[in-house]
Amino acid sequence: MSKFLALIPAAGSGSRMGNELPKQYLSLNSRPMIYHAINTLYQNHWISHIFVILTPSDDEWVKYNWSEFSEKLIVLNCGGATRAESVLNGLITAKQRSLVDTNDWILVHDAARPCLTQTQLDKLINELANDKVGGLLAVPVADTLKRSNTQDRIAHTESRENLWQAQTPQMFRYDLLTKALHNTMNITDDASAVEAMGLQPKLVLSDTYNFKVTYPQDLALAELIIQKRNNP
Ligand code: CTP
Ligand code: MG
Repeated sequence: MSKFLALIPAAGSGSRMGNELPKQYLSLNSRPMIYHAINTLYQNHWISHIFVILTPSDDEWVKYNWSEFSEKLIVLNCGGATRAESVLNGLITAKQRSLVDTNDWILVHDAARPCLTQTQLDKLINELANDKVGGLLAVPVADTLKRSNTQDRIAHTESRENLWQAQTPQMFRYDLLTKALHNTMNITDDASAVEAMGLQPKLVLSDTYNFKVTYPQDLALAELIIQKRNNP
């Protein structure tokens, strides 16, 4: 039986957030931001382990108490220079430590998406558990899209027909994802690596609540969403 394992790359510096503290540790509803993603994945009954990938020089993680997540949470200090490198290093290290089998499903989820819900997670797993390729949560693009020239003037308007925004988790089997990332590292999500192998990952309809906290104003929005969930 293949297992469902979550892998959270959390070795970024959060440069667009502009805070000295990497954004995954910024306070969100009295917890470091990454707590929320871990908690949602931990509560899901499909997921047997959660790997968190930290940069080897991380000295923040140990400042918090993670014991509520027991041995289901496994920290790997093998983050790399890019997200793709962090994910690949995590996959390789988990295999070296006999924590995964090649046929297991890996759900890669950004530490910076704290508003993921159980409903979205269950939907992703249910829609993909028997899929040959795997896929990801995504939302159809809502705004009109403009392509600019070098002077920030509109060169043309892009059609938004069939355009989606990729989110996470992105769910692929261990062997496929590892091969894909070995082949191409110049990408910003896992699905792109799988696409580069000529495969077509499935887009599973999500919603915009599962946005990525990137800029300072995103933090306030995430806080409001989580607060509202905790006090409906
Ligand atoms: N990430 C990682 N290793 C890297 C870069 C990013 O594990 N070398 C992780 C981040 O910690 C985050 C996820 O990948 O959980 C998504 O990346 P992003 O939102 O771009 O985070 P940062 O790279 O930290 O932010 P920025 O691009 O603004 O610097
Ligand atoms: Mg980044």
